[in-house]
Amino acid sequence: MTQTILRLDTSARYEGSRSRQFTDAVLAGLPPTQITTRDLAAGVPQITEAFTTGTFKAPEDRSATERDALALSDEFVAELQAADTLVISMPTYNFNVPASLKAWIDQVCRAGVTFRYTENGPVGLLKGKSALVLRAFGGTTTGSAGDFATPYLTFALGFIGITDVTFLDVPAEASAAEIEAAVSALHRPLAA
Ligand SMILES: Cc1cc2nc3c(=O)[nH]c(=O)nc-3n(C[C@H](O)[C@H](O)[C@H](O)COP(=O)(O)O)c2cc1C
Repeated sequence: MTQTILRLDTSARYEGSRSRQFTDAVLAGLPPTQITTRDLAAGVPQITEAFTTGTFKAPEDRSATERDALALSDEFVAELQAADTLVISMPTYNFNVPASLKAWIDQVCRAGVTFRYTENGPVGLLKGKSALVLRAFGGTTTGSAGDFATPYLTFALGFIGITDVTFLDVPAEASAAEIEAAVSALHRPLAA
């Protein structure tokens, strides 16, 4: 089966971005047709009042304003549903994920679409997907007290059903072995 990848870039910088360069290297061997790229750093709108009302209504009951407010979210969700693997390329900003990635998560957490409420709590509706998170950082090492990015992303992706998540540190200067390790993480068998 051909693996389809949704790549999210989130670094505010382009020149010299470690996360972008490392992700380029990891995905270099794959045909571009397998990869959909979203550059979130270019801007992701924050959810609006019409989003919050529209998201809890059946599509046919939404006003034109609510439909408009959900249009980009629908696109993001469709891209996510079509992907086998989510590759998130990201820096750490002020101990957490970039705000653009948080905004994307707000856009894709959709009741009745990517998760649903049950008597036993919310259940993720995305199945059979994995995520590879390539996290660049300065001093906030993975798992240290200031690393809110790793637990937040783990929980948020799990909330919509993506529980097979691998985090790799983006090295200052990636060796061939480090790139190869990331490629292996990308090609590992999908979780059941
Ligand atoms: C505004 C800003 C805030 C940052 N906050 C943190 C932080 O909280 N922890 C950390 O380890 N690094 C922090 N950094 C460093 C970046 O994560 C690091 O430079 C990383 O390489 C940036 O990713 P990029 O190279 O892909 O642009 C920050 C950088 C910037 C510009």
